[in-house]
Amino acid sequence: MCGIIGLCYSSPRELGKLLYKGLLRLEYRGYDSAGIAVICERKLHVAKGKGMLRDLEEKLGFTKYTGSTGIGHTRWATHGAPSNINAHPHTDCSGVFAVVHNGIIENYDELKKRLIGRGHVFKSDTDTEVIVHLVEEYYRDTGDVYEAFKRAIRELRGTYAILMITSLEENKIFFAKKDSPLVVGVGDGYNVLASDIPAILDHTRRVVVLRDHWVGYATPSSVYVEDLATGKPVDYSAYIRLVEWSVEEASKGGYPFYMIKEIYEQPQALKSTIAGLKSSKELPLAVKAIVEANGRVFVTGAGTSYHAAEFYAIASSTLTGILAVPFIASEYEAYSESAREGDVLVAISQSGETMDVIKAVRKFKERGVRVLAVSNVVDSAIPRESHIALYTRAGPEIGVAATKTFLTQTLLLAWLIAGVAEYTGVLSRSEYSEVTSLLERAPRVAEISLERSEELARELSKSYASKSSMYYLSRHIGVPVAREGALKIKEIAYIHAEAYPAGESKHGPIALVESKFPVVFVAPGISLVEQAIKGNIEEMRARGAETVGVVCEGSPLKGLLDHVIEVSCPHWLLTPISHTPPLQLLAYYTATTKGLNPDRPRNLAKTVTVE
Ligand code: M6R
Repeated sequence: MCGIIGLCYSSPRELGKLLYKGLLRLEYRGYDSAGIAVICERKLHVAKGKGMLRDLEEKLGFTKYTGSTGIGHTRWATHGAPSNINAHPHTDCSGVFAVVHNGIIENYDELKKRLIGRGHVFKSDTDTEVIVHLVEEYYRDTGDVYEAFKRAIRELRGTYAILMITSLEENKIFFAKKDSPLVVGVGDGYNVLASDIPAILDHTRRVVVLRDHWVGYATPSSVYVEDLATGKPVDYSAYIRLVEWSVEEASKGGYPFYMIKEIYEQPQALKSTIAGLKSSKELPLAVKAIVEANGRVFVTGAGTSYHAAEFYAIASSTLTGILAVPFIASEYEAYSESAREGDVLVAISQSGETMDVIKAVRKFKERGVRVLAVSNVVDSAIPRESHIALYTRAGPEIGVAATKTFLTQTLLLAWLIAGVAEYTGVLSRSEYSEVTSLLERAPRVAEISLERSEELARELSKSYASKSSMYYLSRHIGVPVAREGALKIKEIAYIHAEAYPAGESKHGPIALVESKFPVVFVAPGISLVEQAIKGNIEEMRARGAETVGVVCEGSPLKGLLDHVIEVSCPHWLLTPISHTPPLQLLAYYTATTKGLNPDRPRNLAKTVTVE
């Protein structure tokens, strides 16, 4: 997730200052590198580099640039490590076009090869650079910038919000949007475009939220929009609305806290992750590494990422028959002793900087183990120190509680396991395609879960706010999800919560259960598992527990529970996607009902960089 901004005036002014201010407003969307491009008297000037915005301002002096039209970008790396060269804007060979982009171009590799064949010279490792060379290529053919821009956009597969300026047409910003956000701020004698409303609010409160497939250009006095899907012009003035949010409210998308914004961003985060997986060159390498391991795979993480590790272990042995040993990263000493050359360690960390995981990676590497990292932050320490790195595309997560990173981690891991199953012949080619097309339903599955749990979560939070202890129970693939639910309510609502495989109740924990003791069941859509959970629900009810169940549509467990959330379950590998959002909402509303700030739970940091 990156932040982009564009400003278009009719005469030169201190544009660098305005772009820099806009980028600061967008910094929460990504922050490993940044840059601007401005046009001043028909000349294109670019300043960009790796680092935090404020440091770059000191080094490059964004604010000293003047011009009438300009674009800016703050980057959250996806393709290509954070570096000066990979920072946006990107320019064409002749240096007349400059582009900023937020999203992923899935077919960049094939486009790049074709453009190199036509003599284009690429400077970066990014997917974005193909866009600007495509425009250059089509401009040679047509001599018309807008036509060339549209032709280039038609070639792109993937997600994008794109802004382009050119010294050939000084007072225009060309734009295109699909699956990545882009808004226009309608000014008086100028226009602004940005990824998000906070960057617009310093200029105007009149905003048009652009729709997918819309392309066009803004001048200081007008905005031309057409729908690329239908080829018809769009009357954008019909879409203007007045924004009443403050900048602070706007950066949380109008939500009161980042956590709830991030919970509702999950469908989009899953969409981006799927796009990334489909174009990943590392995924086949990761599949091969696992298959070629001595049959011994370890999988590790801390906190929520450990729950993803546990999910991996259960799903791997269930689908592929390959046993994976999950361990909590800080326990690496206990597991590394038995590790040997040829084994594989899957190291999961959304931040890529958790010290316990780094230590585990180093120790296992010393023993000749191949390390496969799963992270949300490109080029962070853990991917850097690993042999292969796979990335989720959740965008930055600001709330301390992990939400969208957990869903995207488990989706990526499910995809990886399906790949291993195909490689080893457990799944035929067509069965593999069937499974991945079910996994592609993840964004909608998460959306349905959110829609169906919001009301009950709010309602239940009223009584949960006064509880001091809870259980979260499940079996099989639901166990890591139950653990995640318990961790959420513990860390943000400060309620003691224990999660364990439901079969363990009789071996001790049920002794605590008395009237109105809250027990949350996570029931995956596997019929044998549902049957087993049935007995566990009954034993809890018999002791007066108040039961809540997250169950699959049409589950036979429905009638047994005091409160039910029915979710959509196209495949058991999607259990974290379908069953976690209700638990996140339950924790969130319980915290806010108690007057707590879920973004900043006490005693916790977002990234634990000490052992
Ligand atoms: O960045 P990581 O995924 O390595 O972080 C690991 C844990 O610190 C993290 O998941 C923590 O448990 C979350 N705050 C849970 O919501």
